[in-house]
Amino acid sequence: MAIREILKEGDVTLRKKSRKVEVFDKRLHTLLDDMYETLKLKNGVGLAAPQIGVLRQVIVIDTGEGLIELINPEIIRAVGVQTGTEGCLSIPGKWGTVTRPKKVTVKAQDRYGAFFELTGVDLLARAFCHEIDHLNGILFIDTAVNLEAGQ
Ligand code: CO
Repeated sequence: MAIREILKEGDVTLRKKSRKVEVFDKRLHTLLDDMYETLKLKNGVGLAAPQIGVLRQVIVIDTGEGLIELINPEIIRAVGVQTGTEGCLSIPGKWGTVTRPKKVTVKAQDRYGAFFELTGVDLLARAFCHEIDHLNGILFIDTAVNLEAGQ
């Protein structure tokens, strides 16, 4: 495994759309393992492949309850509303208030290509939305209000 460099706001790659993963091979597994190692090192909640310069639909999330890997994720259900503070490893030191659905169900594939569905509420629902936005070149600062600098 290896730590990957995280691209920062202003890098054009962060504004591009990621392509679907079609081959579920060792190379994908290495990418996922590296992303998780990088996420843990940075104490983040989620990381999307474009943030390390790979324009593929790959996400890792850990809200404190273990690793979730999402390949080619799609939101299939979104219910309710939550408003809360959000940050991003690509935009260090900036925080803002973002409104998201309260409960989100995603359909995705695992590292072997098997499809599954997963429902998250609160922080996990927020993480699903934030990371899937990354796959579409969208950053939280695009919709955040009350942007401020912090730790
Ligand atoms: Co982010």
